[in-house]
Amino acid sequence: MNNKILLKRSLQSVWHPCTQMKQHETNPLIPIQRGEGVWLYDMEGKRYLDAVSSWWVNLFGHNNPRIKDAIKQQLDMLEHVMLAGFTHQPVVELSEKLAKLTGLGHAFYASDGASATEIALKMSFHYWRNNGKSNKSKFISLQNSYHGETLGALGVTDVAIFKDTYAPLLMQSAQMPSPDFRLADAGESAEAYALRRAKDLEKYVSEHQYELAAFILEPLVQCAAGMGMYHLTYLRRAQEICKKYEVHLIADEIAVGFGRTGTMFACEQAEITADFICLSKGITGGYLPLSVVLTRNEIYQAFYDDSAARGFLHSHSYTGNPLACSAALATLAIFETDNTIQKNHEKSVLMQAEMQVLTDLPIKHLRHQGMIFAFDVETRNTQFSRQCYQAAISLGLLLRPIGNTVYLMPPYTVTETEIDFMIEATLASISSAL
Ligand SMILES: Cc1ncc(COP(=O)(O)O)c(C=O)c1O
Repeated sequence: MNNKILLKRSLQSVWHPCTQMKQHETNPLIPIQRGEGVWLYDMEGKRYLDAVSSWWVNLFGHNNPRIKDAIKQQLDMLEHVMLAGFTHQPVVELSEKLAKLTGLGHAFYASDGASATEIALKMSFHYWRNNGKSNKSKFISLQNSYHGETLGALGVTDVAIFKDTYAPLLMQSAQMPSPDFRLADAGESAEAYALRRAKDLEKYVSEHQYELAAFILEPLVQCAAGMGMYHLTYLRRAQEICKKYEVHLIADEIAVGFGRTGTMFACEQAEITADFICLSKGITGGYLPLSVVLTRNEIYQAFYDDSAARGFLHSHSYTGNPLACSAALATLAIFETDNTIQKNHEKSVLMQAEMQVLTDLPIKHLRHQGMIFAFDVETRNTQFSRQCYQAAISLGLLLRPIGNTVYLMPPYTVTETEIDFMIEATLASISSAL
């Protein structure tokens, strides 16, 4: 099979995600046969550096021997068993480890990020209902937030292109002004801006406390909003406000968890523990679909009862899949043995220094948070993101600008030479698309 034949067959039979399929008449699909480290290879050996970690899932490179071996070993034991009425070693070990890392002792599993969002929203509402407060049924999220695309998750997402068409199908939610520091007034610090936005939050929450179940937010970085970063003081204030007015705080760490922001979880930087944390993407190192919602004991206990209806009866067929859990355990083991968080600090400093060459371009808001790096390109070219993507692809770099925001979020295994290549190719791609 060569590139051409695979592309033709794919376009005839596969409906690709997040895509206007007609655009593939001019922007061809990229056929990938195999991966190795930060590189993806097509059927004819051309390679692309995966600077977006395959939609933010890959942590330790493609074809990682340790994660691969763990899955192979698990495959010889047990590929799957339903988790209702049954249990298995990988899911127990993983839950124990995640409890230690997050301080939240009860883990409820699903497969994708959006399913985790659904679970957290339903659990929050059901908790209040079990406590005689059924009118606490509304949710709030941040302006420009992204929490997934199933109907419930889309109800708290705020990205017009994904949401507007489905508006008649969605539950209503209110959006709080975003603390994204790109929106600060001239001369206003990120912290002062975050505090100003926290005041807006408190006003809304205090006025609606009796109907609000939860506030869901992406801690520190609103990734799909174009890597909108904000000061950690907003997280601290959000937790205080939620506690004061009895509203749950749901930390959606689906994109930012597992070291992306410089700590294992973004909430650690603000020293907060949310009522619910949603995890997915990097949890398996990018190997298999797995998501989880972790919550605290008091919430769990509100469901623990003789009545079945007071229990959380939600389920997915592949909940807690043993292969996915074994990949997650291998991923966590790499963090421990390789001292990943510390090593990433050094890599982050190197990336920041290397990215200075990009300031010769017309860019603003050059920013980073741990291993997430971004800036906004000033251009009048309305086709900038597509042309920049195409230019990068022709140079062997997988970049996926979000509007005029160009970001780099490579696997943590990226080497110094690969960073050099990534930045040179980024510079050239942007220059050709201005
Ligand atoms: C913050 C956040 N929440 C939820 C999701 C949805 O995850 P999934 O695409 O696995 O459904 C994403 C995906 O990008 C995300 O970035």
